[in-house]
Amino acid sequence: MSMIKIEHLRKEYPNVTPLEDVNAEINKGDVISIIGPSGTGKSTLLRCLNQLEKPTSGTVTFDGEVITDSKCKMEHIRQKMGMVFQSFNLFSNLNIIENIMAAPIKLLGKSRQEAYDEGMELLKRVGLAEKALNFPDELSGGQKQRVAIARAIAMKPEMILFDEPTSALDPTMVGEVLQVIRGLARDGMTMMIVTHEMNFARDVSTRVFYMDEGGIYEEGTPEQIFDNPVKEKTRIFIKRLKQLPLTIESADFDFINCSAQLETFARDNMLSDRTIHNLQLVFEEALTQNIAIRNDVFPISVMAELSETDESIVLKATYGGEKFDPMTDGDEVSAAIVNNASASTEHSFENCRNRFKSVIKNSREPEKTKKKRSGRK
Ligand SMILES: Nc1ncnc2c1ncn2[C@@H]1O[C@H](COP(=O)(O)OP(=O)(O)OP(=O)(O)O)[C@@H](O)[C@H]1O
Ligand SMILES: [Mg+2]
Repeated sequence: MSMIKIEHLRKEYPNVTPLEDVNAEINKGDVISIIGPSGTGKSTLLRCLNQLEKPTSGTVTFDGEVITDSKCKMEHIRQKMGMVFQSFNLFSNLNIIENIMAAPIKLLGKSRQEAYDEGMELLKRVGLAEKALNFPDELSGGQKQRVAIARAIAMKPEMILFDEPTSALDPTMVGEVLQVIRGLARDGMTMMIVTHEMNFARDVSTRVFYMDEGGIYEEGTPEQIFDNPVKEKTRIFIKRLKQLPLTIESADFDFINCSAQLETFARDNMLSDRTIHNLQLVFEEALTQNIAIRNDVFPISVMAELSETDESIVLKATYGGEKFDPMTDGDEVSAAIVNNASASTEHSFENCRNRFKSVIKNSREPEKTKKKRSGRK
């Protein structure tokens, strides 16, 4: 029997109906990633499941109990269904261990000692035992989110809902939070995770729901959804995640903005800091220092693209003018830097269009070694 059954779930707001007809069954041990464009009702779905929002119609059955029924006790549901939010929602007036102990004492009737002992175990599990007596304000975003997860687990829920648990975090802290969620998946915790961390979704989930058009538009295994989506909108969404187009109109284009977009794109695809640095170097040296200083090249179409086959990233540029290969015809120092940051480069000239391509050197080196690099940005 499925753990959760969602039938014809509908949620209307005065001006918009994000959920028209959602149907799904979730089994024990499922790890479901929910992806989709902004505004397609991903958060609304989670909020309707744990009754933070009252659905307009339809039913949700959890462990054989119809929880959308008005007689059903909310505390009882929330005890079995933990929720972790983007914004942590810790109690700022309680220290970390008290944050974790509060609900088990109040709702599960645990003694302070028992709640404390279990809370300390959980803090160890998320690597934060030494922060037990600190207050939320004294923790980094990643640490706060790990506490929020420990707090959810303290209620011994049957499942946990996560709404973009890493999207409010500094990129350097995303990994530590995803690692905790991975650990839960290994332990068999049933989870539904709204996320835009696609590599994470791919390797942690058992199923992926792509939401659009008022419901679960397409669902399947991570391989089906990420590699072979069947429906048009899913294809477009997945493809867009893997490509970032940029256009350089003139020599005084907004370099900082382009470089930042490249960084965000690379981070969304979970590339390492070193790889991102290489990508930005190639962009700066090949494009800005070499191609974009020429007169007749504009507009330059740039595309950063995630390779279909592995996790490498490719930077492509198409531009006009005479035949010009930045690796042989331009500044030698720039060419050497590009060469160093690329696994390979290619240039061709056909029909008066130059095409330059760099496969960025993909590096998963540990944090420590990257600091040795020169301060060049
Ligand atoms: N409390 C509310 N009152 C009115 N409209 C709302 C409310 N909450 C959400 N909406 C609307 O419902 C739609 C779906 O919102 P929801 O937050 O579920 O989307 P989402 O898929 O989570 O988007 P995002 O990826 O941006 O987080 C949006 O158009 C939003 O403006
Ligand atoms: Mg949302």
